Amino acid sequence: MKMIKILGFVTLLATSYQCLAQTSLVGPGKKIDPYHYEITKNGLFRRAAVSSAHPLASKVGAAIMEQGGNAFDAAIATQLALAVVYPGAGNIGGGGFLLARMSKGEVFGLDYREAAPARANRDMYLDKNGNAITMLSQQGQLASGIPGTVAGLFATMPYAKLPFSVLIQPAIDLAEKGFAITEKQANGFNGEKAIFQKQNSQPIAFVKETKWKVGDTLIQKELAATLKRIQKDGAKGFYEGETAKLLVAEMQKGNGIISLEDLKSYTAKLRNPIEFDYRGHHIVSFAPPSSGGLLINQMMKMIEKYPVSEYKFQSVKSVQLMIEAERRAYADRAEHMGDPDFYKVPVKTLTSDAYLAKRMSDYSPDKAGVSTAITAGAIHESEETTHISIVDAAGNMVSVTTTLNDTYGSKTVVAGAGFLLNNEMDDFSVKPGVPNMYGAIGGEANAIAPGKRMLSSMTPTLVLKNKKPYVVIGTPGGTTIPTSVYQGLVNIIDFNMSASDAINKPKFHHQWQPDVVMIEKDFDANTKKQLLAMGYKLVDRGGIGRTEAIRILSDGKKETAADIRGDDAVAGF
Ligand code: DON
Repeated sequence: MKMIKILGFVTLLATSYQCLAQTSLVGPGKKIDPYHYEITKNGLFRRAAVSSAHPLASKVGAAIMEQGGNAFDAAIATQLALAVVYPGAGNIGGGGFLLARMSKGEVFGLDYREAAPARANRDMYLDKNGNAITMLSQQGQLASGIPGTVAGLFATMPYAKLPFSVLIQPAIDLAEKGFAITEKQANGFNGEKAIFQKQNSQPIAFVKETKWKVGDTLIQKELAATLKRIQKDGAKGFYEGETAKLLVAEMQKGNGIISLEDLKSYTAKLRNPIEFDYRGHHIVSFAPPSSGGLLINQMMKMIEKYPVSEYKFQSVKSVQLMIEAERRAYADRAEHMGDPDFYKVPVKTLTSDAYLAKRMSDYSPDKAGVSTAITAGAIHESEETTHISIVDAAGNMVSVTTTLNDTYGSKTVVAGAGFLLNNEMDDFSVKPGVPNMYGAIGGEANAIAPGKRMLSSMTPTLVLKNKKPYVVIGTPGGTTIPTSVYQGLVNIIDFNMSASDAINKPKFHHQWQPDVVMIEKDFDANTKKQLLAMGYKLVDRGGIGRTEAIRILSDGKKETAADIRGDDAVAGF
């Protein structure tokens, strides 16, 4: 049964799931019922707020803060819960970026992006004639980079208040006792059945004989056992011992190359964020090996000198200007961005006023620009990265984006350990000019090398206004991620929208190559007509991103919004 209740500002999309047993999740008096829950899209919270891709994960994060945890505790517990209740993207077999601003003002980024194994090399996905075999970078054991998420969770612990054993317990309960799946998840498991069976020789939790339906319970015993090893032994419970052995055994089944030594030597890295000002707001975002912070810096600075708010939301003038900024920034992504520990990314130049003014010097407001190269790649519409936005009562802001890359990553579950492995190796440029699954191309800057981290588009972002916390935002969406964050921020700053409108209005995306503008349904028909007349090629596509945003109002209340494109939900108090 589905119903929509409108309760003042709060819109509830309530789904009633079949009753099984009541489990007690998260602390004294704080019960979360994993078999009955609502998908709440918006909330106005006084103290603390979470927005994530799954209602149970958001509830876990909020409950942890209600129990005395801060935004970092919530970030750890919510990521772990997502690894169970949102297995398409939530993960312990993938990687991510956490960007934070502490209540006292310090900002930092934690990079726990996957890394290429020691036995990787730049031509590992080429056949003997030098042709790219992208199947290998996208499916099966060879597609995986060394997972970073568990290292990232432990690198976050110094900022948290509660013991790790408490933060991981809700995830263990959800894996062990199960939870009711949503309709979208049932469809996802049914749709992937054949490929799951192809990639896994042993039975896995996501495959059953009959069709999955909404309200069915998903139990993941092997994953629960892995989480318990992490609870008991810390990061070593993943990177060494039983879990590491199982992961390496899984590699050996399918020409995978991650070794025990690769796992043992993996570390999360601290990164200084990309920071810039835009119309009186201070924007903080993620630095390379993400391209996200640089891209939004470039795009927003390219449009800053134009009166965007006068042009009006989704008018041909504002959209065309924003597209041309996207085209130019994404061309730089392909050429200049990669892991800064392996390639000197010209951050200063790429973000300098003089350079950006030069980039826009050939901008013409009446006609479509042209991306000179011709290679065009197919664009993949998976939404399976996932973002969490969190603000706590003390004013800490945490923005985390984490991923397996594609939906269910490499589709390969580590036998005996119950978690999916990423297919993040495809985010490298497997061969110069050959598009990855998002159509992104690259070259030397993002070539494969042992230990190197593949270029990402993930863009966890924070905004300060008058030096005070204002917005936490981020999204999945492959190469569309920076576009979604850029448009979300322009919607808030230039068009004065609420968090909910800013993320849910129709979006458009241009990434230099292929030279087309992708548009969501419900995009303004008149603007479409005018863009076509100017010479733009338009391509209709499904939803772009699933953005989670929190906007802190002048009275301190947290206007919290979850994307309507998925099961995303808010929680808070
Ligand atoms: O790091 C990246 O840019 C990609 N692996 C993110 C993948 C993603 O967002 C999947 N959803 N479309």
